Amino acid sequence: MSGTGSDLEVTMHTEEVYDPPEDFRANSEFNDPSVYARAEADPSGWWASWAEKLKWSEPWHQVLDWNAPWARWFVNGKLNVSENCLDRHVEAGNGGKVAYHWVGEDGAQRDITYAQLLDETSRIANVLKGLGVEPGDVVGIYLPMIPEAPAAMIACARIGAVHNVVFGGFSAEAVRERMVTSSAKVLITADATLRRGKPLPMKAALDEALAEMPSIEHVLVADRTGGEVTTPMTEGRDHWLRAAMADVTADCPPVPLDSEHPLFILYTSGSTASPKGILHTTGGYLTGVTATHKMIFDLKAETDVYWCAADIGWVTGHSYIVYGALANGATSVLYEGAPDYPHQGRFWEIIQEYKVTILYTAPTVIRSFIKWGREIPDGYDLSSLRLLGSVGEPINPRAWKWYRSVIGGERCPVVDTWWQTETGHAMIAPLPAITATKPGSATRPFPGISAAVVNHEGDIVEEGGGVLTLRRPWPGMARTLYGDDDRFVETYWTRWGRDVYDVGDAARIDEDGYIWILGRTDDVINVSGHRLSTMEVESALVGHKAVAEAAVIGKSDEQTGQAIVAFVTPEHDVEPDDELKASLSAHVADKIGKLARPKQIIWSDELPKTRSGKIMRRLLRDIAEGRELGDVTTLRDPSVVSLIGERVAAGDED
Ligand code: PRX
Repeated sequence: MSGTGSDLEVTMHTEEVYDPPEDFRANSEFNDPSVYARAEADPSGWWASWAEKLKWSEPWHQVLDWNAPWARWFVNGKLNVSENCLDRHVEAGNGGKVAYHWVGEDGAQRDITYAQLLDETSRIANVLKGLGVEPGDVVGIYLPMIPEAPAAMIACARIGAVHNVVFGGFSAEAVRERMVTSSAKVLITADATLRRGKPLPMKAALDEALAEMPSIEHVLVADRTGGEVTTPMTEGRDHWLRAAMADVTADCPPVPLDSEHPLFILYTSGSTASPKGILHTTGGYLTGVTATHKMIFDLKAETDVYWCAADIGWVTGHSYIVYGALANGATSVLYEGAPDYPHQGRFWEIIQEYKVTILYTAPTVIRSFIKWGREIPDGYDLSSLRLLGSVGEPINPRAWKWYRSVIGGERCPVVDTWWQTETGHAMIAPLPAITATKPGSATRPFPGISAAVVNHEGDIVEEGGGVLTLRRPWPGMARTLYGDDDRFVETYWTRWGRDVYDVGDAARIDEDGYIWILGRTDDVINVSGHRLSTMEVESALVGHKAVAEAAVIGKSDEQTGQAIVAFVTPEHDVEPDDELKASLSAHVADKIGKLARPKQIIWSDELPKTRSGKIMRRLLRDIAEGRELGDVTTLRDPSVVSLIGERVAAGDED
């Protein structure tokens, strides 16, 4: 089992409890603790009460049809996500309200109102229709954090196309793989993305790979840099997005879609080398993200300025920058850049300027802030903040407490939200006006959600450690893996039976029923809240001509939660040196993306294997963490272990 290194620290702090601040409770719409019991008594009725707040073109006949593990929510209901996110607010007279305060990495700023976003979305939808995109067709999106990104996503939803967003930090090869496996018809990208002040070509970087994406008929290119980078355009296939949008009208009626119509595919890493295409659908997903966004962030749409500082390329961005936030009519900050560019006070400057009230970010970012020193946030006026959120990985109590006291000034509740790409929306998180919090714990399941920690036999643990399971369907749950129902069943719904979802996280439940997530139990590494598969990185490494064999593990890292460590056996005629290390690193960046580059590469002439030839990753993890090694007698060659141990020790001194 892989831990996160902060496990120990997490388990030692159960005694600290923070009650919801009195002021916060008094001002909250969601301050009635009976909500938990009410939802528990009638989960279907509970979720239906949220679905009713959305606009439906046709009502549903049944809340849930559960033929485990296949779920249909709001059966036969029809609705359109984009109508719910945009038209509904414009029609209610809120067209002039800001949907996004966009802040570019270069300091550019643009406010986009709901009416403007509807206009842009409708135009993109018309462009897509003009290119032959029909309901059910897949549209790839590979964009920086610019306003076109949410607009492109919602444009797909408007006409029933299924978007497949690839994080802008992934490589062209990763885009190719995801476009090919989803048979995407159109790809929406940009001329470039800005990285620390420099434009990094996107479209030009894709061109070679595009030759190997036979299903892509058209490429739409957003102009981020105003022609600053060279952008090759293939006649007939490639089109500038702005020009195409100017050529169509902004009149594009939203298509009423079945509640189970696919909304998007989002690839995420699993235990094998090929990423899994998580499929989410329409009515249930929108209900789930709306309910959780509204309650967990205690959103007051009229007055809050909400900032989810994730990237749209991950599920957090999908659910809480785009769909949940817009469905709830929120005003959000959409920020293109990094927390430390052009300076380490960037976040605080933005919060001060826009009077941000709710900040939602990842523990790894909070740990960077701690490292940079509290003088930096202390130099800004952060008094507008009233709620702080955390997501992506277990938050260590020290970071939690720093966040609460230094950033929140002790008046802001901290909501640690546990969920996954597969769950679609937050599953375990406090309700800030009701739920007492404990630093490091995501607290208790959201109303209507049933979660339990089980032991190796699958028995529910009332108090103690085990693995996390979800035991009742929920509206935003993944419906399948795109094109691979069998893998869906096998990965999530087999270990504990067809009706219990196997999360893949280790967890502990305490005497108050609070859940403490400890980390993944599978071969998934969580680097700065980004999910990567050991197999994916290994397969990239062995694809390099100088590599004979590679094993990759996650090692706990103070900054990024986990870091990637690769044990590499070079081909026999290859002299391993720093140049080769650099070349391997570049190769991984090419195959997957820069975020997958190993932090440490350790040469090892042989890898520890069982007699049947299986690489013992557990042992490599123990070696890397400097832990006491357990039983090594099952190894084919036990001496390998001490050799590698010496290399690790030597490497650590670098
Ligand atoms: O291990 C858990 C960790 O991130 C995994 C899900 O990753 P992904 O699908 O990329 O989604 C991340 C954003 C929702 C989980 O299995 N994780 C996510 N949030 C938390 C967390 N671990 C502990 N606490 C969290 N709040």
